[in-house]
Amino acid sequence: MRTQVAIIGAGPAGLLLGQLLHRAGIDAVILEQRSREYVLGRIRAGVLEPGTVEVLDYAGVSKRLHSDGLTHDGIEIGFEGRRHRIDFKDLIGSSVTVYGQTEITRDLMEARAAGGAVSLYEVHDVAVHDIASHSPKVSFVRNGVADTIECDFIAGCDGFHGVSRPSIPAGALTLHERTYPFGWLGVLADVPPSWPELIYANSDRGFALASMRSPTRVRCYVQCPLQDRIEEWSDGRFWDEFRRRIGGDVAERMITGPSIEKGIAPLRSFVAEPMQFGNLFLAGDAAHIVPPTGAKGLNLAASDVWYLYQGLREFYRERSRAGLDRYSQRCLGRVWKAARFSWWMTTQLHRFPGTDAFHDKIQAAELDYLFSSRAAQCSLAENYVGLPLDPRS
Ligand code: APR
Ligand code: PHB
Repeated sequence: MRTQVAIIGAGPAGLLLGQLLHRAGIDAVILEQRSREYVLGRIRAGVLEPGTVEVLDYAGVSKRLHSDGLTHDGIEIGFEGRRHRIDFKDLIGSSVTVYGQTEITRDLMEARAAGGAVSLYEVHDVAVHDIASHSPKVSFVRNGVADTIECDFIAGCDGFHGVSRPSIPAGALTLHERTYPFGWLGVLADVPPSWPELIYANSDRGFALASMRSPTRVRCYVQCPLQDRIEEWSDGRFWDEFRRRIGGDVAERMITGPSIEKGIAPLRSFVAEPMQFGNLFLAGDAAHIVPPTGAKGLNLAASDVWYLYQGLREFYRERSRAGLDRYSQRCLGRVWKAARFSWWMTTQLHRFPGTDAFHDKIQAAELDYLFSSRAAQCSLAENYVGLPLDPRS
């Protein structure tokens, strides 16, 4: 089999790249180790920056996003029993869209199927070869039969645990990592949210986030010890803890219901640089992970893919490698700013075990400054709503 771009991974990064290339007349094959149903069953965040919406518009997959997505003009931050609103619209004249990543994945899968582009699901033993050459290859096994795809470029969109990043020779990559001493326990439930906007709460019992997927579905999280097991968290215990952390009128008013999904996820900051080696390009979680507190994971995947798409389109239209050669550099400027913001949100809003009163006082001072300074609020708003994809493009 031969294609122009072999894409490994059918998460949002791989599917979005496939869709952009398809519309530009560039041939691509997507290889995914899981089934379609498994990919659609994964629950991830759902806050879209306007820049991400623009890329989805350009890709022609935003019809449902515009009809069903919720526009949010701000967020609330809870601290010491009070809630403070960060009004994006007033501060920077912009908003975010709340629309689940699962729905974006579904929209992209449907567009790919409608366009007749090739996606191979449930492939195993995916391996990349000759990535430093002009004719890289991807080998895999499907239905017990070994096969190989020859291509011009490989896009490693296979997430944090994929094969692409580890295939780059040791010594060519620098890895930066921070882990955090807690996880997020998340619950999805079919009840209407009693909060109009997302609430990020730093309570003395730990962090909680009140989010939503639609007017009838909530997504809520509490910070929990990493060693907690999901069986220890009945729905009753979760809602009780969530109520205590969110507090106030929201806790009194809120409606709870049985969880339709419940899981614990660790928090990590991770960046691999550069994001390319020869003709292998990493995009999305394959290259970087941010803790979910800033809601940046999907948005970074979208901007990587946008830059990669531009580089590939330039190569096929103009036979110029200029865009591809500066792919990593273009991505990393944005990636590190989102890594900084996500680390900052995580640091300010969680309770860190084993810290002293000095740490707590500095955290309280930082939040007090945020609530009292328009400049500090503008900075949060600008980063949360998303820095420009590329001021030079
Ligand atoms: N072979 C083929 N496919 C693979 C392999 C492999 N060896 N390893 C992983 N994959 C697939 C996974 O099954 C998954 O479907 O690659 C896909 C990667 O998708 P994501 O993990 O969703 O990563 P990405 O597309 O970069 O999306 C980034 O989604 O994961 C969230 O928090 C993340 O919001 C961010 C966004
Ligand atoms: C979510 O709705 O799952 C969500 C929203 C905002 C975040 C993280 C997760 O920062």
